[in-house]
Amino acid sequence: MNKDNQACDFTIFGVQGDLARRKLLPSLYQLDNAGLLHEDTRIIGVARHELSQDEFVAGMRDSLETFVKGSLDPEVRDRLLGRLHYVLVNLDVPDEYKRLADIIDQEKRQLVNYFSVAPFLFDDICRGLAHAKIARPETRVVLEKPIGRNLETSQGINDTVARVFCEEQVYRIDHYLGKETVMNLLALRFANSIFTTNWDHNTIDHVQITVAEEVGIEGRWGYFDQSGQLRDMVQNHLMQILTLVAMEPPVNMDGDSIRNEKLKVLKALRPITLDTVEEKTVRGQYSAGFIKGKAVPGYHEEEDGNPTSCTESFVALRVDIDNWRWADVPFYLRTGKRMTTKRSEVVIYFKRLPHNIFKDSYKQLPRNKLVIRLQPDEGVEIEMLNKEPGIGKGIKLQKTLLDLSFSDAFRGERVADAYERLILETMDGNQSLFIRRDEVELAWNWIDSIQEAWAKSNEPPRHYPAGTWGPVASVALLARDGREWEE
Ligand SMILES: NC(=O)c1ccc[n+]([C@@H]2O[C@H](COP(=O)([O-])OP(=O)(O)OC[C@H]3O[C@@H](n4cnc5c(N)ncnc54)[C@H](OP(=O)(O)O)[C@@H]3O)[C@@H](O)[C@H]2O)c1
Repeated sequence: MNKDNQACDFTIFGVQGDLARRKLLPSLYQLDNAGLLHEDTRIIGVARHELSQDEFVAGMRDSLETFVKGSLDPEVRDRLLGRLHYVLVNLDVPDEYKRLADIIDQEKRQLVNYFSVAPFLFDDICRGLAHAKIARPETRVVLEKPIGRNLETSQGINDTVARVFCEEQVYRIDHYLGKETVMNLLALRFANSIFTTNWDHNTIDHVQITVAEEVGIEGRWGYFDQSGQLRDMVQNHLMQILTLVAMEPPVNMDGDSIRNEKLKVLKALRPITLDTVEEKTVRGQYSAGFIKGKAVPGYHEEEDGNPTSCTESFVALRVDIDNWRWADVPFYLRTGKRMTTKRSEVVIYFKRLPHNIFKDSYKQLPRNKLVIRLQPDEGVEIEMLNKEPGIGKGIKLQKTLLDLSFSDAFRGERVADAYERLILETMDGNQSLFIRRDEVELAWNWIDSIQEAWAKSNEPPRHYPAGTWGPVASVALLARDGREWEE
């Protein structure tokens, strides 16, 4: 049950869209299946189509059958379908929100409004909710990314929402923050003394964060080409992971305690400017290649592609954090489409020991490393050195892995999808896994500086064949510092 055990009217604007059908509805099914929805909680779908309640429910049943992983429990499915209500609202027609006001029950239920639509509609929805008097101080709104495409546009969106809702009512989603392993980063860092005392420039050499996608543009060429990998992936997912790895211990788990610490990291990021952009960034664009033996087209040849586009589908960055904890510890970030394999992970490389008494095994002792795998197989690994078993060979070292795969360690426990956790948190009113306005805007400010430097430098992105780990220049980015990417 959601913690405050209060019934909720969970309203989804854009209920017939891809996100709602593919992610939100299946997540609500899983929450219901786990007994986490109050018996009086209702799901109110808003769209602009003439549909009867029965037609709407039939469509949602199809979505559940298509998108819920594993087998559907008919009893849970029917219980969830029984919670659904359809309301037709053209989002840009304020008077139509009256239909929504007629059904919403603010006396008995907490109201959560999920904006599962493009951000240009947020203004209409906020005005419509206010016009229909369903924007009370307790009302919550959930905003999907992208919150703008630069600082100025993100401020525009935030101002729009702030005209009706104060910051305590706003839940900005970055679905990476709902992932089990990302949450586990907090547990790993702040509940284990071996890490709390070994998490700074004294012991850590550098950090790598990789979010590699196997897929290409997936029919979204027009959208993606306006955005690029820096805006689409780095500004949100990679920077959020970076802040969780780098932040100071929060005083407690309250939303603002955590977000205050993340904000300090964003403030300490050294800007990348025209003077440093060449040395600290690599941008790439995939050309045709092979993924798992299958030929795939290059970025320009994708459906609706424009052969002159210079939008990047790959980014690698060296990020420096100017504070005591991370002095001289670079964070290397890398993300791309059409890479060798789908993989997201954080790798912490510890410093080499100052003296090596095992020269027979290694001229230079390899660094210990801690790998936090975010996907596909969530888990944690520590690479250490051990004595090879046996007698008569002296001490010969070998690398060994302490491997905590979540699916093996917690066998039988289903790893919840990020959206399940995040939806539940919106019902509970816990903002710690959502991005505060000042975080979004600081992150955009830092990204804008790179974007401007790229625009001024006029260097086109470097090509890399699909199915590889990106342009060769990305290898050189680390090689210059005497390091290499985790492969
Ligand atoms: N899909 C994902 O996996 C994903 C992931 C992360 C973030 N997001 C973000 O989530 C948001 C929704 O994405 P999506 O992929 O679900 O988009 P989508 O498939 O285009 O769905 C948007 C929905 O909004 C409805 N809509 C548009 N204008 C409307 C109006 N004036 N009145 C009423 N309804 C209107 C559309 O209705 P019609 O069908 O009538 O046009 C459509 O069903 C976007 O901001 C996106 O960037 C999506």
